[in-house]
Amino acid sequence: MTLNVVILAAGQGSRMKSSLPKVIHPIAGLPMAQRVINTAQLLKHATTHVVIGHGAEKVKEVLVGEDLHWYMQEDQLGTGHAVQQALPGLEGKSGITLILYGDVPLIREETLSNLMSASKLNDMVLLTLDMSDPSGYGRIVRGADNSVQAIVEHKDATDEQRKIKEINTGIMAVKTELLASWLPQLSNDNVQKEYYLTDLVEMAVKEGKKVSASQPDYAWEVEGVNSRVQLASLERIYQQVKAEELLLNGATLMDPARIDLRGDVTCGKDVVIDVNVILEGNVTIEDNVHIEANCIIKDSIIRQGSYIKANSMIDESEVGNHCDIGPFARLRPGTKLAARAKIGNFVETKKAVIGEGSKVNHLSYIGDAELGSGVNIGAGTITCNYDGVNKFKTEIEDNVFIGSNTCLVAPVKVGEDGTTGAGSIITKDIAKGELAVARSRQKNISTWNRPVKND
Ligand code: UD1
Ligand code: CA
Repeated sequence: MTLNVVILAAGQGSRMKSSLPKVIHPIAGLPMAQRVINTAQLLKHATTHVVIGHGAEKVKEVLVGEDLHWYMQEDQLGTGHAVQQALPGLEGKSGITLILYGDVPLIREETLSNLMSASKLNDMVLLTLDMSDPSGYGRIVRGADNSVQAIVEHKDATDEQRKIKEINTGIMAVKTELLASWLPQLSNDNVQKEYYLTDLVEMAVKEGKKVSASQPDYAWEVEGVNSRVQLASLERIYQQVKAEELLLNGATLMDPARIDLRGDVTCGKDVVIDVNVILEGNVTIEDNVHIEANCIIKDSIIRQGSYIKANSMIDESEVGNHCDIGPFARLRPGTKLAARAKIGNFVETKKAVIGEGSKVNHLSYIGDAELGSGVNIGAGTITCNYDGVNKFKTEIEDNVFIGSNTCLVAPVKVGEDGTTGAGSIITKDIAKGELAVARSRQKNISTWNRPVKND
């Protein structure tokens, strides 16, 4: 069955008090409308149509997806008018049209699939919710036989209708053919002078079409964002859901309220994560990894049994089995650590491949470098990889010992079992087993008199 998904994203969102269009404000690191697009694209045979208006250029620039169709709604004359803009892209197509909202970001695929299943037996299916305080929402008016008869907007409702607790979430699925025939018939003869999408329900009923309603499992799925207060509240709900997924999957979170997931995280068993850890992008954490407080890990893999100490940042890196990182380590993109490597405090790595069991324990910069296994890098070592214009590589073979405070001026290579004396500025290659000392000799002056203080 053909499925057209229309996402309404034209509204201004003035209550956000922002120069950024509302629908691209992020929730858990992703523009909220992007979440809706991503969920829509999980549905089978779906074509995605996005109606934009306010900040259209910016919205179009930010949102991505497979085969997105864009429609411009110059003036926001109502939800019915918004869907009308997409009509040229829907007409002639059989199947179902699903209406979603760019500012209702947490709708789940399961809920939409349920709606689609119900659509097979109905001409129109509404997603509705019972609310203890339904104020402001469109109400679902049902007949004596409990069948859906109409949606009445709060502002147009009678006192009696306002007592109805079942509200319209806005999300609905309609047979595309019927939608195309009804949309041009909408009028704006109502309190808000808007073309209401919700008026389609009455039209359907009048034509004897089958209208039904289904409900989401969670109320947060259909919560919209109009202000930063609502955005913050949905962000917390999302984080709580994600934290619970991790817990149920076998991870220990020292405080499930103090972890933030902004991407896709795969987490093994018996992983321990302390407070204030942020996981961004694509992060894989294998079994028995321990992450201490205040770490930020982005687009990285942490293999089995590794231990990340507090305040470390790991970005686009791969940490092998049983490595020790931090505290205060910074692994920048292109860092690849083999098993049992150690990166200690105040060490920065970038494009660095570090072999098995090698150690960079203190205060070093290792960039554009390849280290073999069993290497020991002394405190304060710097790979001088940049001459102000170009970058050069440092190669360090197995079992090399680099003395403290060595500068390795790249391009340079230290052969297997090589050693550098502390404080050396290494500008030439060192062959296998050699010791290189490149510093001025110490001179002791026995005739030296210490200065005396003048009166
Ligand atoms: C709408 C529903 C109401 C429902 C409520 C749920 C109608 C007439 N009413 O009311 O029954 O209970 O949502 O939140 O549909 N939009 C456009 N272009 C427009 C108008 C709206 O893109 O011309 C977008 C908005 O950006 C927003 C969404 O559609 O994302 C809903 O619009 P909004 O004005 O918030 O509708 P409500 O009056 O809240
Ligand atoms: Ca609204």
